Amino acid sequence: MVTSASPATDSVAPVAGEAAAAFEQGLDHLSPNRNLAPLTARLDALGRLEVGGVALGELAQTYGTPLYVIDEETLRATCRAYRLALAGHYPGDALALYASKANSSLAITALVASEGLGLDAVSAGELLTALQGGMPAERIVFHGNNKSAEELQLAIDRGVTVVLDNWNDIELLSTLASGRAKPVRLLVRFTPGIECHTHEYIRTGHLDSKFGFDPDQLESVLRHLAGCPWALVDGLHAHIGSQIFELEPHRDLAAVMAEALLLARSLGHPCGDLNVGGGLGIRYVGSDDPPSIQEWVRVVAGAVAEACSQRQLVLPRLLCEPGRSLVATAGLTLYTVGSRKQIPGLRTYLSVDGGMSDNPRPITYQSLYTAVLANRPLAEGTDLVTVAGKHCESGDVLLHDVRLPATAPGDVLAVFATGAYNAAMGSNYNRIPRPAAVLVHDGVAEVVQRREQPEDLLRYDVLPHRLLPVS
Ligand code: LLP
Repeated sequence: MVTSASPATDSVAPVAGEAAAAFEQGLDHLSPNRNLAPLTARLDALGRLEVGGVALGELAQTYGTPLYVIDEETLRATCRAYRLALAGHYPGDALALYASKANSSLAITALVASEGLGLDAVSAGELLTALQGGMPAERIVFHGNNKSAEELQLAIDRGVTVVLDNWNDIELLSTLASGRAKPVRLLVRFTPGIECHTHEYIRTGHLDSKFGFDPDQLESVLRHLAGCPWALVDGLHAHIGSQIFELEPHRDLAAVMAEALLLARSLGHPCGDLNVGGGLGIRYVGSDDPPSIQEWVRVVAGAVAEACSQRQLVLPRLLCEPGRSLVATAGLTLYTVGSRKQIPGLRTYLSVDGGMSDNPRPITYQSLYTAVLANRPLAEGTDLVTVAGKHCESGDVLLHDVRLPATAPGDVLAVFATGAYNAAMGSNYNRIPRPAAVLVHDGVAEVVQRREQPEDLLRYDVLPHRLLPVS
C-alpha cells in the first residue's frame, strides 16, 4: 500500500502494515466513506487484489487500461448508509439526493434510483442521464448558476424541481412557466455565509460565491416570488462546500437555514423541504479522517430538528446532496505501468498509460491518492517513485514520491477512491480517448461505459473543403 505524500514535503508514507489495516477497513460496512478500498476488496488465493469478486489484473487484461472499476456493493452500501441514517436520526421525512456531478452515468443513476435515493443535476446532460437512467422526475432537483432557457424548459416539462439561483432564473421562468396549469416547484438557494476548511475552489457557502442569492437579498426574493402565480416555493437550499471533515459548519448551517425557513413560511411559502447540500469528505490517504456517513447524518439531522423546534417550525422534509461520499470509494482506476526515468539523486518517474485526462484532481487541487500493484498489493514498497501520467505536461503527476514494489512495464497499478470527480471531470487533453468503465458485482464485470476510440475524437471535427489536402 502506498500513499502519495504532499508534493510540498519529502515525507514518505509507510508501507505493508498500513496495507493490512486498509483491507481491514475495507470490511467496515458501516462507514464506506472511511475506507481506502472498496468494501469487496480481497486478496485471492494467489495474493492478487480482487474487487467485486473479480481479479483486477484480469479486468485490465480483458478491458484494457486505463479502466475505471465501480464496485456495486460499495455504492449500494453508501446509498443505504445515507438512507438508514436519515431514517434513524431525523424525526421527519428525509431523502438523500445523489449529486450526479460526481459521476453521471446511466448505470450509476439506475443503481442509486433502485436504492431509493433522489438526484441532483446541474445541466441538461446530467438531467437527461438521470431521466433515462430511471430516476423519477419527482426525485430530481435541477441546479445551476447560469441555466439556459432550454435547460429550464426541459426541467419544467419533465416535472423536475428547479433550484432558483438568481434573478435570471426568475426572469426566464416567469416567461417559460406563466400560463402553465401547474406552478413550477422550486427551492430557493442562498449563500449561507459559512466558512469551512477545504480547497478554495470547492468552497461554495462563503459570501463571495457565484452560487445562490446573497442572504441579504433573500427576503426581497421571497416577497417577489409570493406574487408569482407560476412559482411554488417549496423549499430552501444551501451548500457549504466539498471534501469537508468538520461537522461544526453543518451545524451552523442548520441554524441559518431554519431562520430562513421561518422567514419564507411567514411570507406564505409552504417550504416543505430543507436541502442542506452535500460536502462530506472521504478518505483518500491513510491520514484522512472524515466522519462516517452515520456521524454526519446524525449531526446534520439533529441540528436541523433542533433548530426547527427552537423556532416552533413544523419539521420540513430534510434533503441532502452527497456526491463524493456516495461514489468515490466505490471506484478505482487501473493503469498499466510503462516507461521509467531515473534521475540520479533526484527522482524516479514511473509513467502510466493515463493521467490528468482521466483524473484531473491532482493537478487541479493537489489531491492525494493511494495506490497498490493489482497483482502484488502487499509486496513491500522498496522503490521511491513519482507516478506520472502520459500527457505532455510536466504537472501531469498522479502520485508524488510514493513507495512501490519494484515494477516492470506491464504491471497494473490500482489507484483507489477515484469514483467521484474523475470520469466526471475527465477530458480529451492530448486527444487521448476516455477510459471504459466496468461495474463489478459477485464475480461478474459489465461494461457500463465503452472505451472511447481515437476515431470518436474526430466525430465533431469539420475540415472545410478548401483545406482538403490536394493529392
Ligand atoms: N450540492 C451542490 C449544490 C454542490 O455544488 C455539490 C458539489 C454537491 C451537492 C456535492 O458535494 P459532495 O458531497 O460531492 O462534496 N470537483 C471537486 C468537487 C466539486 C464539488 C462541487 N459541488 C473535486 O474534485 O474535489
